[in-house]
Amino acid sequence: LKTIGCEKDLLGKKVLITAGPTLEKIDPVRFISNHSTGKMGYAIAENAMLRGAEVTLVTGRTSIKKPDFVKIIDVLSAQDMFEAVDENFDQQDIVIMSAAVADYRPKTVATEKIKKKDGEESIQLERTTDILGTMSKRKKNQFVCGFSMETENMLENSKAKLEKKNLDMICANNLKVKGAGFGTDTNVVTLITKDNVVELPLESKAEVAAQILDTIVKK
Ligand code: CTP
Ligand code: CA
Repeated sequence: LKTIGCEKDLLGKKVLITAGPTLEKIDPVRFISNHSTGKMGYAIAENAMLRGAEVTLVTGRTSIKKPDFVKIIDVLSAQDMFEAVDENFDQQDIVIMSAAVADYRPKTVATEKIKKKDGEESIQLERTTDILGTMSKRKKNQFVCGFSMETENMLENSKAKLEKKNLDMICANNLKVKGAGFGTDTNVVTLITKDNVVELPLESKAEVAAQILDTIVKK
């Protein structure tokens, strides 16, 4: 495992990472979110920092320790995350988006707590901005890497996202594999580029992070 003694092969490079869940308010009490803990993104941020990069970590609300020597931008909603990335994207050399961003948010946020009534209550939703899709449209020399989380047709769906979002690489997670996915300290990730598919073995998220960055450095 690469730790303090690793090669400084990202020295002078600016790396932006998104991590964790977003949280979309319904009313002052409730929100919509997901099971992301931020572990994978934080591991990438830490590994990039150890390799000498200047790292910006845009993070949703998590309960894990923040990596040291990294610029942290705390956000809550998909819109907050979009604004933070939008402001920092152009200066970056490498952008890795591992955050689990909500695809929908409540159309309005109630100012008072919503009370239960007789009969059915429903909440109207609207789409959030696709941060990764929007940013990669204006990429210049940045290496842009996305993540994808699938429960079925992982390869096919992830390849489609690579194309559609104009990415240099996508790290595909299969939620159905043991030891992979939300909250675990290990992960099983498949690295997909235009011309290659490499399935990494079950490893710690720190080791997976190192291998993701090894691949990006080589490219
Ligand atoms: N992503 C993003 N902004 C969004 C939604 C997703 O930046 N509003 C990013 C994620 O951080 C990830 C990639 O897009 O790097 C793919 O996310 P995923 O949820 O797997 O794909 P979607 O394009 O949202 O498609 P779907 O959820 O329908 O599978
Ligand atoms: Ca999504």
